Amino acid sequence: MQTQEYKYAKIYDPLLFYFIRPIRKRVVLLVKKYRYKKILDVCCGTGDQLKLLKQHGFDGQGVDISETMLNVALGGRIKADCLLQDATQMHFDNDLFDLSMVVFALHEKHTDSARGILEEMLRVTQKNGHILIVDYEITHQTGTVSKALIYLIEWIAGGEHYRHFKAYLKAGGLPALLSRMPLTELKRHYFGHHGIVLTLLKKVQN
Ligand SMILES: C[S@@+](CC[C@H](N)C(=O)[O-])C[C@H]1O[C@@H](n2cnc3c(N)ncnc32)[C@H](O)[C@@H]1O
Repeated sequence: MQTQEYKYAKIYDPLLFYFIRPIRKRVVLLVKKYRYKKILDVCCGTGDQLKLLKQHGFDGQGVDISETMLNVALGGRIKADCLLQDATQMHFDNDLFDLSMVVFALHEKHTDSARGILEEMLRVTQKNGHILIVDYEITHQTGTVSKALIYLIEWIAGGEHYRHFKAYLKAGGLPALLSRMPLTELKRHYFGHHGIVLTLLKKVQN
């Protein structure tokens, strides 16, 4: 497996704190509501979501391919339980988790990798288990400032990341990526003036 450097690992959380915090809190509320027992955070990055869940008494497992991000996840006062793994080939048994989430990670991948990650999430999630996805959704409802900010953040991330982000939106975003997957939508919540959507889905077959 080829690991990846993430050049903004150390500043990722402070930089995006105000932008991401409401989303992290909503995830905690959903975890409380559905009382998940086995939680997986795919492409967990700095483990910020897992650390917040831990503060509320919920344990979860993270995986990420970047050692620099994982160093942040494994450090600090509260440590996240994260493993170095490629999300397109995870080392977990089938049907293990009752919640698998992927937050802000699909838009920055090539379509094949993004689909590969979702297929792996389906494999490791129990039938009737849940899949939670947070990512951008730019439509006519998205606020102008919000849209500009999202493009700016992705442009700063640069290179391949920015190219994949634009391709993701052009191809139809999450609905296109999810087409023909055995998932049914349970809920959605919007953030950032309709620039970000949290979608909760149920796996309907094995
Ligand atoms: C924008 S960060 C999002 C981090 C985190 N989910 C969050 O909510 O802040 C995307 C993460 O995906 C990770 N990643 C990219 N490709 C991956 C892969 N194939 N397997 C596992 N992690 C991957 C990167 O290392 C990075 O930490």
